[in-house]
Amino acid sequence: MSELILGIESSCDETGVAVVRIPEGGGVPTLLSHALHSQIDMHRAYGGVVPELASRDHIRRVLPLTRQVLEDAGKTLQDIDVVSFTRGPGLAGALLVGAGVACALAAALDKPVLGVHHLEGHLLSPFLSDDPPEFPFIALLVSGGHTQLMRVDGVGRYEILGETIDDAAGEAFDKSAKVMGLPYPGGPILSKLAEGGDPQAFKLPRPLLHSGDLDFSFAGLKTAVLTQAKKLGDELEPRKADLAASTQAAIVDVLVKKTLNALKQTGMQRVVVAGGVGANKLLREQLNQECAKRKIRVHYPELHLCTDNGAMIAMAAAMRIQAGQQQASKTYAFDVKPRWPLDSIVEKNVAL
Ligand code: KG4
Ligand code: ZN
Repeated sequence: MSELILGIESSCDETGVAVVRIPEGGGVPTLLSHALHSQIDMHRAYGGVVPELASRDHIRRVLPLTRQVLEDAGKTLQDIDVVSFTRGPGLAGALLVGAGVACALAAALDKPVLGVHHLEGHLLSPFLSDDPPEFPFIALLVSGGHTQLMRVDGVGRYEILGETIDDAAGEAFDKSAKVMGLPYPGGPILSKLAEGGDPQAFKLPRPLLHSGDLDFSFAGLKTAVLTQAKKLGDELEPRKADLAASTQAAIVDVLVKKTLNALKQTGMQRVVVAGGVGANKLLREQLNQECAKRKIRVHYPELHLCTDNGAMIAMAAAMRIQAGQQQASKTYAFDVKPRWPLDSIVEKNVAL
């Protein structure tokens, strides 16, 4: 019999709920419905996410969104076999809302629950697309809080090859945008502005580009953007698009070069890009171009599933259950893990 998984995401500033079906007899799980509420408009006035406001808004949104996805999928709560939620990493208060609601629903329905790692959700989100990848692959995980290159051999079989030693790529976008006076969330706004600018107008550093390893560092770039913005003074306004384009080019250059290095070092022929920065147009263009030259396949989540959503959480839960990696359980005493390294959920005793 097929199984229905409800997924609830509430780790940061989006409330996402979805229903995914594990097909009878195996195969890639399918998305039946998903709904999302972004808190961007609420946090914009403060220039960034206010954790307490985020938690309260998740409380307001999560049940109406759950009702909506069930209706859209033509299902009722009683049809759900497993309730999954984001257990971490993320904002503690925000995570507690999703965890609390998921466990309460599951307890009331006498159904098992399963806590999901947010980054595993991003990592497996390309399986929600019409052109899902096959294992093994290299994953470039680029979100607001994380930048990692990983070797992925299967569900739960992840080896971190390199990661940022300071700021994440999304943070580099967001902090540079702030320096330029752009509103939150900086990444997509900076990238839109960059479309009208010259990426070679300013020489900005490409940190660790030639370090030989697969680690990243973006803190120096943000400082260089700040220095440049100060130097420009009143001239910043008319040169903003140029500075945005130069910043974006520096970030994307490093991400593309390091990903190509990871592919070369491992001999892999397939790459998956996931996380919010995976929505970046220039990153997609450059990576597609470079990978096409090398006959390497690139997979992305659908654009609207790059940033946080419930579909990726339900999908990760479904794939973990399918792979026998995790059993959903009827233990409703929940906890959340605001800091939770992805390597700690790696399947044990597997030779990578
Ligand atoms: O994965 P995500 O939604 O949340 C986290 O788990 O962190 O990623 C959010 C990040 C933010 O830093 C945002 O600025 C960035 O992704 N982002 C972008 C774009 N869309 C979102 N950065 C560059 N270009 C974009 N189009
Ligand atoms: Zn995320």
